[in-house]
Amino acid sequence: MTQTATQTDSTRAPALPDAATVTEVRHWTDRLFSFKVERPRSLRFRSGEFVMIGLLGDNGKPLLRAYSIASPSWADELEFYSIKVQDGPLTSRLQHIQPGDQIILRPKPVGTLVHDALLPGKRIWFFATGTGIAPFASLIRDPQTYEDYEQVYLTHTCRDVAELDYGRELVESLKDDPLIGEMVGDKLTYYPTTTREESPRMGRVTTLIENGTLFSELGIADFGPATDRAMVCGSLAFNMDMKAILEGAGLREGANSEPAEYVVEKAFVG
Ligand SMILES: Cc1cc2nc3c(=O)[nH]c(=O)nc-3n(C[C@H](O)[C@H](O)[C@H](O)COP(=O)(O)OP(=O)(O)OC[C@H]3O[C@@H](n4cnc5c(N)ncnc54)[C@H](O)[C@@H]3O)c2cc1C
Ligand SMILES: NC(=O)c1ccc[n+]([C@@H]2O[C@H](COP(=O)([O-])OP(=O)(O)OC[C@H]3O[C@@H](n4cnc5c(N)ncnc54)[C@H](OP(=O)(O)O)[C@@H]3O)[C@@H](O)[C@H]2O)c1
Repeated sequence: MTQTATQTDSTRAPALPDAATVTEVRHWTDRLFSFKVERPRSLRFRSGEFVMIGLLGDNGKPLLRAYSIASPSWADELEFYSIKVQDGPLTSRLQHIQPGDQIILRPKPVGTLVHDALLPGKRIWFFATGTGIAPFASLIRDPQTYEDYEQVYLTHTCRDVAELDYGRELVESLKDDPLIGEMVGDKLTYYPTTTREESPRMGRVTTLIENGTLFSELGIADFGPATDRAMVCGSLAFNMDMKAILEGAGLREGANSEPAEYVVEKAFVG
């Protein structure tokens, strides 16, 4: 018995620093997957924040990247929604994780896409492209979103229809969610668009704002700083274009230290 245990110990992979065990993996497309890990008991975060996660690199050092936590702050597990970059240092390997595997999770959540960075308002807008929906997957499951605002809008622009699946399925599941389904009620409006594959609503959301389609379809005539708050998460180009639109409408950028009417965070660098 003792000998067997000793042999097992000596062949076991070295323990990871800040290890978290994977409990579930789901592949959505050949470029996108989501996974859950056990939540360290001591980890506290605000819905919308991100953490550093990763794996041990070939050199034995942690290979870490920023990831938005896609689950809400009350959840027992931590969920992440990830790109698969075929030659990406981290995701070329991370995409192969299985339940039972361990990842590194640095327990220091930070970020600007948090309710604390916004002043009170009537409507909250979550504008996402691609994996930029991840922080909003957290926020649309946070009771505070529905306590603080009368209406909640989530827009998601992707190239292809299948890239919308993660968000669409999540939004649909909220109606029957035993914890927050009643709070969500009919307050949450989901506005998906595609740009390269045919779908019921086509075009960049920026174009649909600028040509008036978005607000006329949603019956909103008075978008502005008196009523509206916004959070933006996408590519650098998307964030820049959205900033110009929001500033043009009179909204000012906020921060944890100085709340205002909108906040922005990059979904990835490059
Ligand atoms: C604040 C913040 C939060 C982030 N949250 C997430 C998240 O929740 N989910 C996630 O998948 N990524 C997220 N990222 C990106 C993430 O940190 C990594 O870049 C990504 O995991 C790829 O890592 P890599 O080592 O494989 O490739 P990297 O060397 O990091 O990236 C290689 C190239 O792939 C492209 N790329 C990287 N990430 C993405 C992406 N998400 N979508 C489209 N193209 C991309 C870029 O062109 C980049 O230059 C976030 C980045 C930041 C700064
Ligand atoms: N998605 C794929 O199928 C795919 C496949 C292979 C490689 N890649 C590479 O992966 C990287 C990221 O691709 P991604 O699709 O995840 O992210 P992305 O290029 O940022 O595009 C995501 C969505 O955001 C839209 N968008 C981009 N810039 C915008 C802006 N300034 N304003 C408004 N909307 C904007 C895109 O519309 P447009 O379509 O109009 O740009 C697309 O619908 C790119 O380098 C790409 O070359 C992507």
